[in-house]
Order: sequence, then structure tokens, then C-alpha cells
Amino acid sequence: MSDFVNVTVADGIQTIRIERADKKNALTQDMYSVLASSLNDAEGNPEIRVTVITGTADSFTSGNDLMDFLQNPSQDEEKPVIRFLYALANIRKPLIAAVNGLAVGVGTTMLLHCDLVYASNQATFSLPFVNLALVPEAASSLLLPKMLGHQRAAELLLLGDNFSPEKALSYGIVNEVVAPENLEATAMAAAGKLAEKAPEALRLAKSLLKQDTDAVLKQMKAEGEIFGSRLVSAEAREAMQAFMEKRKPDFKQFS
Ligand code: COA
Repeated sequence: MSDFVNVTVADGIQTIRIERADKKNALTQDMYSVLASSLNDAEGNPEIRVTVITGTADSFTSGNDLMDFLQNPSQDEEKPVIRFLYALANIRKPLIAAVNGLAVGVGTTMLLHCDLVYASNQATFSLPFVNLALVPEAASSLLLPKMLGHQRAAELLLLGDNFSPEKALSYGIVNEVVAPENLEATAMAAAGKLAEKAPEALRLAKSLLKQDTDAVLKQMKAEGEIFGSRLVSAEAREAMQAFMEKRKPDFKQFS
């Protein structure tokens, strides 16, 4: 269990709130474990009709905890992060994200698996995998080019710069950008509407929309293999070390 993920259920809506504000909601394996089991619980619990995932303070999530990357590089299928990614791909009930702030790495890639995404106009998105000498995950290397075309996917995944909620909206990664004070109400209103709908019809409709689950799972596996080998690479060590030392990484030594 984790003290940093709060899960509640009310009126058919499961709300998963990431709460590790002092570390910008960076995700540890314990936190991924709660995220994965919450999604899996939702799947089997008839009381839960829809899940909303959100963050706290100025962060949705700053992505995987970088210390954890250094300490636990393995990417085997039992690892909580992998269980969470597979749960995202497999969940048959609707999933809504309310992106209140920083959405880094998996903070952005998990959105590709959500059905509705609402963002605060204070949110910031980024996919800095290559900046960390890593590769894309969560099947983003499949889903983003499919959604955006190669060039815009390459812009987000290879340059890895921050991008705005307006860009996320224009790229179709978010449904609506709202003022911070309206974010939660907007997401909960959509969740409330879904919670009232015929559950089996919703599940079937979602499965018709998401016909590429097998390809998504296959890509996650392929990405995971490369990601695992990148985590123990000298390039990634330099990138993580640089983050800890609050300096820019120096990749000039690598060929
Ligand atoms: N893993 C571990 N610690 C993290 C973290 C992460 N992903 N993101 C933030 N933190 C920690 C910082 O180390 C800092 O800890 P400290 O107070 O003990 O020094 C604290 O959270 C606050 O972060 P800080 O960098 O001071 O805030 P900021 O507003 O200047 O920048 C970010 C916020 C998210 C842009 C920046 O922290 C960042 O780039 N984090 C790494 C994100 C990342 O690369 N994630 C992995 C993606 S694959």
C-alpha cells in the first residue's frame, strides 16, 4: 500500500488521487501498485461504473520516481509499473483523467489510454524519455504516431519539450481545457453522466472504440524490453545523475 495514493468510491465513481506533492507526485513502485490494483478492483466491482484519476497541488504526476528508476531498473511483468500499464490497456470501464498540473512522462502517456481527459489551463505536458536517455513507454510509440502522424509524434517524443494544454487540446490528447477551479467539477460531471449509463453498453461501446488492445499490449512489451536495457545504460545513468545533481546531462562522451 502507499500513503501517496488516495482511492475513494462514491455514487459509482472511483476517484484515484495521486498525493505526493513534495515530490511533484512522482510515482514509486508502491504507488503504481495501488494504481494497478485500483484499476483491477474497478473492473471487478459492480459498484464502480467509472474511474477518475487526478493529482494534487501543482502536479498530476511528474512521472516515474527517478531514484526508483536507478534502484529498480528491471521491467519484468510482475513489476507494479508494468501491471499498471497493462491495467490501463485492459480496463473495460470508462477512465477519465483530470490533469491539474504537471503531467510528465507516464503523466502524459497514461492519458492516451483514458476515454475523457480534462486539463487545467495551468497544466504542463511533457514526454522527456529521450532526454533521460530512455525510450517511450505505455505504447506511446504506437498510439501517438497513430493519433498525430509521425512528425508531431516525433516532436513530442524526440524533442521532449514541455507543451501547453492548448497544444494538447489541438493534438487531441485532451478533450477540454478549463480554469483550475472548474477542473474537478467538469471531470466529475462527465463521470456522473457515465455512471448513470447502462454499464454493459458502455463497456461494449468502449471495446468497439479500442480495437487495438492486442497491438497496444504487444508494443508495451517491446518498449519494456528496450526500456529495461536503457535504464542500466551509461547514458541513462548520466541523465539520472545529472537530475540528482541539478545539472544538465552531458552526452558528448557517448557515441
Ligand atoms: N522523481 C523523483 N523526484 C522528483 C521527480 C521525479 N520524477 N520529479 C520531481 N522530483 C522531486 C525533485 O527532486 C525535488 O525534490 P527535492 O525537493 O528533494 O530536491 C522535488 O520533487 C520538487 O521538484 P523540483 O525539480 O524542485 O520542482 P520544479 O517545479 O523545479 O520542477 C519538474 C518540476 C517535474 C519539471 C522537475 O522536478 C522534473 O523535471 N522532474 C523529473 C521528471 C521526469 O523526468 N520524470 C520521469 C519521466 S520518464
